[in-house]
Amino acid sequence: MRAIVVSATGGPDVLIMAELPDPEPGPGEVVVDVAASGVNFADVAKRTGRMPEQLPFIPGHEAAGVVSSVGSRVSGVTVGDRVGWAWPGVLGGYAERVAVPAQWIVPLPPQIETSTAAAVLIQGLTAHYLSHAAYPVRPGDTVLVHAAAGGVGSLLTRMAKLRGGRVIGTVSTAAKEKYARDAGADAVIRYGEVDFAAEVARLTRGAGVAAVFDGVGRTTFDGSLASLAPRGVLAIYGQASGPVPAFETARLIAGGSLYLTRTSLVHYAGNREELLARANDLFGWVASGELTVHVSGQYPLADAGSAHRELESRRTTGKLLLIP
Ligand SMILES: NC(=O)c1ccc[n+]([C@@H]2O[C@H](COP(=O)([O-])OP(=O)(O)OC[C@H]3O[C@@H](n4cnc5c(N)ncnc54)[C@H](OP(=O)(O)O)[C@@H]3O)[C@@H](O)[C@H]2O)c1
Repeated sequence: MRAIVVSATGGPDVLIMAELPDPEPGPGEVVVDVAASGVNFADVAKRTGRMPEQLPFIPGHEAAGVVSSVGSRVSGVTVGDRVGWAWPGVLGGYAERVAVPAQWIVPLPPQIETSTAAAVLIQGLTAHYLSHAAYPVRPGDTVLVHAAAGGVGSLLTRMAKLRGGRVIGTVSTAAKEKYARDAGADAVIRYGEVDFAAEVARLTRGAGVAAVFDGVGRTTFDGSLASLAPRGVLAIYGQASGPVPAFETARLIAGGSLYLTRTSLVHYAGNREELLARANDLFGWVASGELTVHVSGQYPLADAGSAHRELESRRTTGKLLLIP
């Protein structure tokens, strides 16, 4: 099979196509013939070495396709099933074939196209746990969603609206502002141009927001804390601008007994029941049209480097896919 292999960390040029033996399913595993793989920030972080990974490795935490063989001790999955997977602990999506532990396999309902599943699983499951569990948005809540035109951000905006919340989104450009409004944001702040915390105070008449969902990290952290109402929740789920520096916990009292959490999908979809329940909601909203999945670019697998350049450029609004 053909696969992208990273043998040394670095820029997009370290994503090199190689010919490898087809994977065999081990006990508890299935082999998936990949139809499309999702491109994520975590792939960039592993490629650069910011998130250490043992070399050499095949990147990719998310893909969808058709099961081509099933190992021993697997039940409920058969050859020919259309499936997806999205899991931080499973690598290898940038390939024609991948062996995946069956516990992380998500069956695809007939209404969900295979490429749609590859485009929505990681970001959709993340948006789901953030809006339903990390801070369960309640009707009437005002919440702040950073990078509201981003992959997680736009889906999270939509889900917070489905739960009856009012969403203030932040974005960097006019084109992204339109995208965030189309996703359902009630108000949008260009956080590169104004002090977003001051703008949040104005939009909430000084009350602040019940929760901030922050995948941006370093550049938004101070303003995110300042945007919260007393006892508000700051859920940091990513660091697109860099890691958040150490801080004094006394700042949480100063802001009004605030809550701070740093979240991972691992802890919110770590058992099969929870994973399938979130995926079921996600696919249901996609099938009913309540959630729109926007693929902004498809690249041949061999061109994975171009997809990474595009993602790192900060220009993307939807999902980038690799097609083997
Ligand atoms: N913890 C989890 O469970 C989990 C799961 C999935 C993803 N993540 C993480 O969440 C973050 C967002 O993921 P995503 O896939 O949804 O990406 P994304 O939102 O599509 O892209 C990140 C956005 O962050 C904004 N941004 C601000 N400063 C930036 C900078 N210096 N460089 C690049 N982007 C910057 C950009 O929006 P503007 O141009 O509008 O500012 C950009 O579009 C990533 O850090 C990812 O690793 C975490």
